[in-house]
Amino acid sequence: MKPIQVGLMGIGVVGSGTFNVLKRNQDEIVRRAGRGIEITMVADLDVERAKSVVGEGVAVVNDARAIIANPDIDVVIELIGGYGIAKALVLEAIAAGKHVVTANKALLAVHGTEIFAAASAKGVMVAFEAAVAGGIPIIKALREGLTANRIQWIAGIINGTTNFILSEMRDKGLDFDVVLKEAQRLGYAEADPTFDIQGIDAAHKLTLMSAMAFGIPVQFDKAYVEGITQLGAADIKYAEQLGYRIKLLGITKRMETGIELRVHPCLVPAKRLIANVEGAMNAVVAHGDAVGTTLYYGKGAGSEPTASAVIADLVDIARLDSAEAAQRVPHLAFQPDAMSDLPILPMGEVRSSYYLRLRVADQAGVLAQLTGILAQAGINIDAVLQREADEVQDPALGAAQTDLVILTHECKESDMNNAIAQVQALPTVLQPIARIRKEELA
Ligand code: HSE
Repeated sequence: MKPIQVGLMGIGVVGSGTFNVLKRNQDEIVRRAGRGIEITMVADLDVERAKSVVGEGVAVVNDARAIIANPDIDVVIELIGGYGIAKALVLEAIAAGKHVVTANKALLAVHGTEIFAAASAKGVMVAFEAAVAGGIPIIKALREGLTANRIQWIAGIINGTTNFILSEMRDKGLDFDVVLKEAQRLGYAEADPTFDIQGIDAAHKLTLMSAMAFGIPVQFDKAYVEGITQLGAADIKYAEQLGYRIKLLGITKRMETGIELRVHPCLVPAKRLIANVEGAMNAVVAHGDAVGTTLYYGKGAGSEPTASAVIADLVDIARLDSAEAAQRVPHLAFQPDAMSDLPILPMGEVRSSYYLRLRVADQAGVLAQLTGILAQAGINIDAVLQREADEVQDPALGAAQTDLVILTHECKESDMNNAIAQVQALPTVLQPIARIRKEELA
């Protein structure tokens, strides 16, 4: 059979990895795919650098539209990123009848509904294994491996930059700002780390997994997103003393009234496997009614790990190119006419348990006052820890201070918000209250 012809848009870190792995493992890949897969055309603004990567025999252009205009190209790999030109090129490639492979989580999380509809109408595939958790085959697992299941929840460490920062904060007892600078110096964090540290990158990936797990449209705009910038070394230390680790988790759950879709720092029992995922590694836990809890672990970024996912998609396309579009695996796992309209729940409706840290005046009756407020709100306390505050005296108050750490049982987020507002207003509560959600992931 004629080799499938691929055009690559953007030959940076992942593009170079894709080109090199495809070349290195071509024989093995052909044995699996049943036909050759060849990158015959590359588009990149830096033509000279692109030529130095691909060598002779591959057409290199600086205009990605030349790939779309080439009738010999069957598949386009989009590795440009972002929502701007990448969106236009993906839609144009689909309109030209070409399959698309992309690592662009932001594009699909925000514009997925439009892009998947265009691809279905044209009978082409949009494959995106590389968009979520890099080299971990989590899309394949959710869309095919777990297809027998009613998936109940997914929780994942799906951003390596933030997991690296949290691991360093814990290991070295340092605050966020100090570790971020070090991570940037070492190349673990980008010069502009906004998408990573604010949880946006994780929310893009979670949005895609949620859609595939529950058969709902991609709805990034309804995700609750909170990053790690407010976390202090003290919280990591106290969590440890209580038997927990703090991780930035993407969590999506099927509830009776809707779907939870949230990214935020989270206490996880230290004994859970996912709590022990360190450094820049990623991991996803998925729970299905038949299979129970499953765990997927690996590199969430990097040249060849991400190339591994891109090429897996190319092989799928090579195998399924000749199949009837209706017989292929649907983009979001469920048939487009069988999507659920279960709403994404507002964060106030989400139920969780909580870690609270309060700097309070160390005097009689303070604990009673604040536990009274929690009791009034129907919030059940699980554990209380009192530790001497780092700065023992507040000269303005002339009174000793102490840190109170409270773990609660599960309650509604809106009830917790009201209780926190009342506790914060007490004159004996001296600093803003730190609140971190807690998941047992049992
Ligand atoms: N910046 C991401 C991370 C990788 O830190 O995991 C690409 O999504």
